[in-house]
Amino acid sequence: MAHNLPIEGFRRILGDKGITIEQDDIAPWLNDWRGHYQGAAAAILSPATTKELAACVRLAAEHGIPLVPQGGNTSMVGGATPPADGSALILSLRRMNSIRAIDTSANQAVCEAGVILSVLHDAAEAAGRRFPLSLGAKGSATIGGLISTNAGGTQVLRHGTMRGLVDGIEAVLPDGSIYEGLAPLKKDNRGYDLKQLLIGAEGTLGIVTAATLKLVPAITHSATAWFGLGSPHDALALLRALEARLGPIIEGFEVMAAEPVGYVIEHVPNTRAPLAQLAPWNALIEFDLSNSGEGGRAQLEAALGDLMTDDTIQIHDAVIAQNEAQARDFWRIRETIPEAERAAGFPIAFDISVPINAMPDFMLSAAEACTARFAGTTATSYGHLGDGNVHFHVRAPADIADRSGWLKTSGEEIRHYVHDLVVAAGGSISAEHGIGQSKRAELGRLSSPARIMALRAIKAALDPHGIMNPGKLIPLASEA
Ligand code: FAD
Ligand code: MLT
Ligand code: ZN
Repeated sequence: MAHNLPIEGFRRILGDKGITIEQDDIAPWLNDWRGHYQGAAAAILSPATTKELAACVRLAAEHGIPLVPQGGNTSMVGGATPPADGSALILSLRRMNSIRAIDTSANQAVCEAGVILSVLHDAAEAAGRRFPLSLGAKGSATIGGLISTNAGGTQVLRHGTMRGLVDGIEAVLPDGSIYEGLAPLKKDNRGYDLKQLLIGAEGTLGIVTAATLKLVPAITHSATAWFGLGSPHDALALLRALEARLGPIIEGFEVMAAEPVGYVIEHVPNTRAPLAQLAPWNALIEFDLSNSGEGGRAQLEAALGDLMTDDTIQIHDAVIAQNEAQARDFWRIRETIPEAERAAGFPIAFDISVPINAMPDFMLSAAEACTARFAGTTATSYGHLGDGNVHFHVRAPADIADRSGWLKTSGEEIRHYVHDLVVAAGGSISAEHGIGQSKRAELGRLSSPARIMALRAIKAALDPHGIMNPGKLIPLASEA
């Protein structure tokens, strides 16, 4: 634990409501969603305003106390978990949760960092707009966390990642100064783009306190379809055929092998499979029919009917949701895969990207290579095929008695093996979840000297005393 903490100094800044020192109240925030890391912290600081937050950072900087920014704590890579030695304090953004403004003429929302994604969805909908980024953790993940991980999710195909949805940013830098960049300037060439530097920085360069976010028009008519397919190649061919026939109306295109869908059916109560028979591969597709109005659905049905007879794509079966409730049920299957995988016992999880057209081959060949090399393992994938990003999961042999022991002994070898395949295919070992602690050593092992030099130089320039989220993202000296 850190010694000589200026707890009373923080209390003077934050008041009793803004500081938590009871270990029972701190405990739920000390480990990660996947349960891989256990941290320790003597206090959680919860400022209510940017000024309070800046004063906390100044005090922490004076005393050399590291801070771990935390939003919803849904990180998949241990990014928001404090170090186990208790040397850092958690800086929670959860009290900074107001939507400062929604401007429907500019199609923008100004949100504080602690606003939960689904709260923004609801507020945008009430204003006749939408914030076009969604993911399974939407009920907990916050705007600050989504920005700091450059989150992706299920609408990237059409709307891009968080990087493209942030028009302005307000942040507190490691010396406690406030960067006021909320103005949504379309053109701004004052040198380095601090906003883009903070997006995806995982809290290592400063703390995002608010952002100006893009909104898009609400969808007035939509349709949701589930396709049973023969292979990931069929899925990509289906996406391309739909794009060619229907134009840019595909709002989401998610692909799932039978295994993860099976885990949902087994572990998530009240799940009904969309098709009579679970196909080897499945695609969930969301169409925005707003521009074609009432007639859109008939056009869509005709186009899908044509595709059913296209013998270049192996379609086992397909169904269009009959109503909103059924559409929600289809999406619930996709969105609860992480929860179902957790219930089934976590696999070794990879969040990878390769060039889109290479992904179907990669999904099959990497699974085959992996299971041939590591006897008894199974490997499968699901995710955002249209973005060239899938979650590739390797499971321990079914008959293994000591699963966690096996994960420890074989896990590292498998991680190296799969990541080497990804790098050989020209891909990335983190497509959307970030690096955090879980991929830091692998980033070091697999990055060019130029990338490592630039990462370290930027970190040292902005955070010379290393107080911002230590141990995350930047490979240690021994790792690169
Ligand atoms: P946290 O977990 O609290 O923090 C994440 C990182 O950001 C940490 O490094 C933290 O220090 C830093 N941070 C948090 N707030 C701030 C701030 N205000 N300023 C500076 N740094 C900050 N991710 C995807 O990209 N796509 C998905 O489809 C997806 N699906 C998910 C589904 C489930 C069920 C779960 C549990 C997670 C999923 N994730 C997904 C991962 C996760 O939800 C995202 O990374 C999300 O952006 C994290 O938001 P959070 O508020 O929980 O951040
Ligand atoms: C998803 O797409 O569901 C998420 O990124 C989480 C995961 O890796 O399963
Ligand atoms: Zn994902």
